[in-house]
Amino acid sequence: MIEFLLNGQIEKPDHIDPNLSILEWLRTKMRLTGTKEGCASGDCGACTVITGTPGESGDILYQAINSCITPMASLHGKELVTIEAFQQEPGHPVQSCMVEQHGAQCGFCTPGIVMSLTALHANRKEGGTSNDQILEALSGNLCRCTGYRPIVAASHQAMVEEWQPEPGHPAAGMANRATTAPLAGIHRNSFTLNMPEGSRYDAPVSLHELRALRREAPYSRLVAGGTDLMLEVTQQLNTLDHLISLERIPELQGCVLDDNELVIGAATTYHQLRGPLCELWPAFDAMLERLGSLQIRNRGTLGGNIANASPIGDMPPPLIALGATLVLDGPEGERKLPLEEFFQGYKQTSLQPGEFVHSVRVPVPEVNEALYIYKVSKRLDDDISAVLGAFHLTVDNGVVRACRLAFGGMAAIPARAPHAEAALTGQPWNEESLQAALTALADDFSPLSDVRASSGYRLQVAGNLLRRTLLASTSLPGEQLMVTDYA
Ligand SMILES: Cc1cc2nc3c(=O)[nH]c(=O)nc-3n(C[C@H](O)[C@H](O)[C@H](O)COP(=O)(O)OP(=O)(O)OC[C@H]3O[C@@H](n4cnc5c(N)ncnc54)[C@H](O)[C@@H]3O)c2cc1C
Ligand code: FES
Ligand code: FES
Repeated sequence: MIEFLLNGQIEKPDHIDPNLSILEWLRTKMRLTGTKEGCASGDCGACTVITGTPGESGDILYQAINSCITPMASLHGKELVTIEAFQQEPGHPVQSCMVEQHGAQCGFCTPGIVMSLTALHANRKEGGTSNDQILEALSGNLCRCTGYRPIVAASHQAMVEEWQPEPGHPAAGMANRATTAPLAGIHRNSFTLNMPEGSRYDAPVSLHELRALRREAPYSRLVAGGTDLMLEVTQQLNTLDHLISLERIPELQGCVLDDNELVIGAATTYHQLRGPLCELWPAFDAMLERLGSLQIRNRGTLGGNIANASPIGDMPPPLIALGATLVLDGPEGERKLPLEEFFQGYKQTSLQPGEFVHSVRVPVPEVNEALYIYKVSKRLDDDISAVLGAFHLTVDNGVVRACRLAFGGMAAIPARAPHAEAALTGQPWNEESLQAALTALADDFSPLSDVRASSGYRLQVAGNLLRRTLLASTSLPGEQLMVTDYA
């Protein structure tokens, strides 16, 4: 049995299928139909709810998430706030301002939009909420009918309104950042859910337990944020028989500096890793802002992105360009390998049965090193890359001493461009060397044509991104808005 708070009330639902999403449970079991299903794939935001996750120091992290692709069992020990919370006591500034500014445009999107903005409101800090923060909060809520102007106007108005909910109101904890006693009373031990039909969900709370479970069931499926995996259930209609959750294992969470490397636990979400990673390598910031939506970044993890082995995953190319090392763990113990060696073929990795990604070790920058990352996709927000270029250069007195150029979307796996790298290394960092590198790039890749881009477009744009790097590093005005080199 799992236990959590739903709009202020303790819930202990029994017989939770590992494949059941929060959305499905809300709508079919609880008849709470205010939360809508639009796409069932994390794209539209109609299903947005807020989860509150208790932290070590008793604080609660409130985040907007996509309930359609989040496993129900992941709610254990958390608070879940849905749009129905506002039915009980109207008058929240987000609700009032959406009405006042005519932001309620259609019944499908509005509940999700209100939840995204309520999470932003709960997390607002002194000094105000910027337009960028409002747009980021709305990045996972797609409106196809009218546009965002009234919604953004409502957001601006709501973020400055002061509102103190009555004690006991479901949103009171969120507004006051108080730890609610019922949450503290829920056990934090590991648990297993067994369904009569044979499916199973394990939620270990230590690395030791995870290793034992993987030894016992090497072909079980791991679930971290579920933002890739759950699409197998909602889009391909597969049944996942045995899931092991990585969400509650402290050893797989967070970022620490160790010697000259930043060690990022595999189950660290984008929300958690953005600060520490961007402090060392600021170029990640603009890219992370465009990785999925805020809802996706609140759940999605680095380990999931790598293990999913998509040729258009956004994190592998820059990490390969930086020479990051992967730490794998499993029944045979721990081993390390360069990240680029992990990818064996389309969606094929070197993970052995029972193994899992433990962490990623990212080198810290040294003198004269710079990183440039460019993501090209059809939409700015919440879209998968057509091409992603990541360029790690050491330029000393105008000469390229070392370079690692890595791309996503150019081959069946995220890959480096060895010919282009050879054409640049040891050469002056100028137009002439760039031309040689662009010619060499055509020997490195024969990209596919697909719905995102044609082969010719991909090759052209890959070269253009390299050209842009030269322009950026030689001070193209305004370039700092798009990409930042740490130097
Ligand atoms: C709407 C939407 C937009 C998206 N946009 C982007 C985008 O712009 N860029 C991008 O790169 N991705 C994007 N994604 C994909 C996804 O969000 C990321 O790949 C995310 O990092 C996956 O992490 P997760 O924790 O959710 O993985 P999960 O879904 O939990 O797992 C993914 C796979 O990895 C395995 N796995 C997870 N953790 C481990 C581990 N530690 N060791 C071994 N195997 C493991 C799982 O078994 C599963 O096979 C998007 C997804 C959605 C739904
Ligand atoms: S239903 Fe579209 S994001 Fe969940
Ligand atoms: S608000 Fe629903 S499509 Fe525009």
